[in-house]
This record gives sequence, structure tokens and C-alpha cells, in this order.
Amino acid sequence: MILRSLILLISLHLLGATALAAPLATIASPDGAIVVEIEINGEGRPAYSVIRRGQTIIAPSRLGFLLVDAPKIERNLSLTAQSQRSFDETWEQPWGEERLIRNRYNELRFTLTETKELARSLDVVFRVYDDGIGFRYEFPDQPRMREVKILNELTEFNFASEGEALWTPAMRSNREEYLYYRTPIEQVGVSQTPLTVRLQSGLHLSIHEATLIDYSGMNLMRIEGRGLNALLTPGIGDAAVVRKGPFVTPWRTIQISETAGGLVESRLILNLNEPNRLGDVSWFEPGKYVGIWWQMHLDTATWASGPRHGATTETTLRYIDFAARNGFSGVLVEGWNIGWDADWFGNGQDFSFTKPYPDFDLERVTSYARERGVRIIGHHETSANAAHYETQMDEAFDLYKRLGVRTVKTGYVSDAAGARVRTEDGQVRFAWHEGQEMARHHLRVIEAAARRQIAINPHEPIKDTGLRRTYPNWVSREGARGMEYSAWGNPSNPPEHEVNLVFTRLLAGPMDFTPGIFGMETRSPEGVATTWAKQLALYVTIYSPIQMAADLLENYEANPRPFQFIRDVPTDWEETRVLNGELGDYVTIVRRDRDSRDWYLGSITDENPRRLEASLSFLEPGVRYRAQIYRDGPGADYRGTARSDILIEERMVSGADTLVLDLAPGGGQAIRFSPVTGKRR
Ligand code: NOJ
Ligand code: CA
Repeated sequence: MILRSLILLISLHLLGATALAAPLATIASPDGAIVVEIEINGEGRPAYSVIRRGQTIIAPSRLGFLLVDAPKIERNLSLTAQSQRSFDETWEQPWGEERLIRNRYNELRFTLTETKELARSLDVVFRVYDDGIGFRYEFPDQPRMREVKILNELTEFNFASEGEALWTPAMRSNREEYLYYRTPIEQVGVSQTPLTVRLQSGLHLSIHEATLIDYSGMNLMRIEGRGLNALLTPGIGDAAVVRKGPFVTPWRTIQISETAGGLVESRLILNLNEPNRLGDVSWFEPGKYVGIWWQMHLDTATWASGPRHGATTETTLRYIDFAARNGFSGVLVEGWNIGWDADWFGNGQDFSFTKPYPDFDLERVTSYARERGVRIIGHHETSANAAHYETQMDEAFDLYKRLGVRTVKTGYVSDAAGARVRTEDGQVRFAWHEGQEMARHHLRVIEAAARRQIAINPHEPIKDTGLRRTYPNWVSREGARGMEYSAWGNPSNPPEHEVNLVFTRLLAGPMDFTPGIFGMETRSPEGVATTWAKQLALYVTIYSPIQMAADLLENYEANPRPFQFIRDVPTDWEETRVLNGELGDYVTIVRRDRDSRDWYLGSITDENPRRLEASLSFLEPGVRYRAQIYRDGPGADYRGTARSDILIEERMVSGADTLVLDLAPGGGQAIRFSPVTGKRR
């Protein structure tokens, strides 16, 4: 008896003091593994914790708001109501990395009401999935807070145990385009999301947000120890966000997985978004494109008019012919319109979105393309002057619609906080790329384009928070260092970069990275720091429904064998699986074509060579497949001439086989599996 109470006492002690007080509210994931607990301390400060299989992974973390011209909402709160519900549905993506997605969660809603003075209240909603959690604040319309001016959120994410974080800095001049740091959680600075962590236990977590609508983007700043606090992107006035009730904030998300690959397979962010509002979007067809683009980044042609002007009618016709011959659906043309001659960076005032340069016959190229089953991909570089762009946007989309242009790449090149927006009183103000005003602008563009059945692919965009579910014409975007950095970056993208993207930026959604470079010498001192096989593998490891074959046509014409993979690889998938992967090191992804029974594999590594095993058990049982393998040659290396050392071979395989993937330093491997009739012997 004494022994038993002693054991009880010791175990209570080990559980720690907080566990003694029962939480005020709790909710578990459908499989029971993840539990969220809500507590309110003696000062009336609410906090949430996340527990997985009995282990606390997010220690009590505060909820609340700092306001402008009003007391903060953080203390003297009591839980005045709570309710729960469950949800389970399977929905279909019109295009995507996976066709069918199960959305299954348990939801807890509770009301926090101030016990003193203002007696303001708000709801907090938690959705707990088997692969993580999402939570948001919901502000009712209330007499004491008609207009809410948010200075910052007091939302915290306190990691309960040690781990390594993969993150990229936020609020610096190059917007979202920085290299990644891999540091202990304690050394995170001011970070963008997704920020991904591997705990010492091996568990993986990634913090991001979903449904960024009429609100400012969330960054993370470390407060102390392993604690991170939301840091809202500043607005144009003294508040980060100004809203009238009722309104909801974006969801704050924590994806949770035993493996790094599980984060990539998680659809939590899409699930937290509202269903498709555009109806039938079959007018958007996923596909691949070439373009008048890389030559400008190599500086062998110019966006501006003059003797080296890239976007001439003649060159465009050549690109259209090439696209038609090789099964590409699009040709991007940059520098076609008036406005590139003066200093356009961060300015944008000179751009016309309807007037072509005299050496570019817009009517002719668009009709020539259509006759050949190809479409021009439009381009609107705004230099982040959203105010100016909005004065021409409707006319510009009308023009493109009339000419049969169905996808437009937009651009917001300027330093961070150098965007320009027009406020309600007609003034033009400077803004951050991820503040509330730009969140609104991007949605206006998406809606204006959708009315003309046009898809949008912004560069220097606002971050992806899964809005492609609601607006499936928001098909891709940049929002990280893309291939262009390998043309002129100093440094260029290092070999680990694309692996890092898979476990951070790409968790947010599709990226227009623009892979497929064979000409490795560039203006950048390191050139393109991958092997050719890795360039091919990127078409599988980086998901986007539109993928560019970014190189100069002559490099494809001179190398038809490796180019064959770029011709073959689809951009729309039935399903996606991650076979292996570690943050910052390597990853192997397989995807099944949505329109055939073919599977594709992409495997990429950082600067280290790897031998990885890939079980082919994803293939249909009992069926033989021809595997067309594009792999690093024996001397392949991301440095020097060894980058083009590629072996292309065929093998017959089945789901019972395991392939050994030998990746060179900075290398990769790409495989197409096509079923052949007849069963395996
Ligand atoms: C930056 C974009 O990322 C790039 O793709 C484009 O060529 C330039 N801006 C010019 O618009
Ligand atoms: Ca860019």
C-alpha cells in the first residue's frame, strides 16, 4: 500500500505540476494520437498544448492579441462556452499532386470572455487531424470592438523538447528568397513559415498557416529558449491588420509526422481551406512550358527594347514551333510589353500591360500558337506597383482572354516593403509583400483573372497558404529562391537547396521553380550546382501543375536523350508518396500520372553522395513495368564538367523489386515506370 502510493506520488511528480490541474478543454485527433489541451492560468491567460502519444510536443503556448489604441487581449479571460464536432469527407482536386483527399478531423470551439472592464470576447477553434493541428481566432461583431486594429498576435509555439529547425529569414530585403539555416531551435531568429523541425525523438513538425485572406502574413520570432511567437507582417499604418467584426484569422498550422516525408504527404493546409468557389475549372490545363526567359537571366538578351531584345516575333515563333514539336502546351514571353527600358526594378510606373514593343506582334504570335495547339503564357511584371497594375488589370486580362491566353505569370520585383498599394482614400502607400493590403491585392488579381478563365502564377508573391483549393486558378507561384539564382546569384543555389525546399516552402504549395537546365556555366560563380540527372529529378520532387523547361532551346536540341524525360514527365498527378528523406539531406518522391498508369520517381541529394534503396511496392502488383532510368554517371558531380555525366538505361521491374539509387554529390535520379502488357514471369 505504502509502496503503491509512493509510486503514484513519484509518477505525479514526473508528470509535472501543470498536469495536475485538469485542462479546461481537450480534443483528440480521430486516431487518438494527437491531443490538444486548453488551460487558463491564475491571471486568466489562456494557453494550448499539444501532446502526441502521451509526450508533450508543444508546451503550454499563449494565445492572444496586442491591439492598437486598445488594451491587449491576453489576461483576465475565462472560458465561457465550448463545443465539439467531427468531420469526415473526401474531396477531389481539379488538378494537383493527388486527386482524392480525405479531410477528417475533430474540432473544438471555445469562447474566451474577459472577466473585467471591456468584457470583450472571441472564439478559438482547433481542428485536430491525424497529421497535425490547425487553429484560428474568430472575432464576433461586438459593441466594444467594432473595428479591430491588430498590432501583433500573441500566439506562441513553444517546443517542449530539443530539435533542429530548418528555416529561412523573414522581413529582409530579398523577401522570401534566402538560403536555409539548419540550427537548434534555440538559434532560430526571425523566420518565415513553413519552419520545419526535427525533434530529438525523430518526430517532425512544421509550422505554417492556411487561408491567408484579408490579413497579414505570419512570420515567427524566437522569444526565449525554444519558444517562438507569431510576428505579423506590418501593415501600411500603425496596425498589422485592420478588420471589422465578424471576421476570422488565418489558421495557424502545425503538421506532425514521424518521418520528414510524412510532412510532404500531409494535406492539412489544403484541408483547412474552403472548397472550390470557381466551379468547373477544366479550362485550366496543367502542362509544361518553354519561354523567352533564361537568356535574360544569363544577360545574353534583354527585357528592354534594343538590339538584344529577347521578345521578338521571330524568336517567339521559333519557341512556338519547338513547343508544338515537343508536346509543350505553353510559351512564356517576358519583355513583350512597353515599360522595360527605364529602371523598372521596384518602380513599375512605366509598364503598359496592353501595348507590345514594335518588334513583337502580339496578335500574330497568339494566333500562330493557337493554330499549333500551343498557348502563349502571358507576363505582367508589376515591380510590386500593385496600385499601377490595378488601373490596367481588367483591360489587360480582357486582352489576353480575347487572344486565348489562359495562364499569366505576374511579378512583384522590388525590395521588401517596397510594394505600392492604393488605399481606400486614393493614396498610394508603400507596403510589405506579405501584409494585409497585398493579401487583398493578390485576391483581387485572382478573382479578376478567374472571371476571364485565366490562371495566375505570381513571382515575388504572397506566401502560399493553400488558397488554390478555393481558387483553383491560383496555380503556382515562386516565393523562394528559384532557378534564376543559379544564373546570376552570388552564391547560386547550393546543392542542398532543392531538398530544403521540399521540406519547407513546398509544404505550402506548388512552386514555379523552373528546372531543367543543361547549360551549367552561368554568370554565377558556382554555375548550376547540380548534376543533369538531378535537373530531371526536380520535375518529380518539386510539385507544380505548370513546369517550365527553363533552358535555351539549343541545349535541348543538342541533348535529345536526357531531354526525353522532360518531354515525358506529366505535371498532374493521381497520387504522391515519399519513399525516404531527411531534412537538408535527400528525398525520394514517387507520383502516379493522372492520365495513365505510369509512375515517376525523383530522388535528389545535397552535396553528399548517397546510396538509397527504393522499394517499388507502390507499383501495381503482378504487372511488369519498363523503367527508363536517368541516373548519375560514375564521375558525376555538381562541380565542373562532371555535371553532365548521365547514364540513361532501361530495365524491366515489378513491385517486388527494390532499386538501389546511387546519387552523386549534388546529384539525383529520375525514372519513368510504364506498365507493359502481360504479367511478370
Ligand atoms: C523575377 C522573376 O522571378 C523572374 O522569373 C522574371 O524573369 C523577372 N522577375 C522579370 O519579371
Ligand atoms: Ca524571383
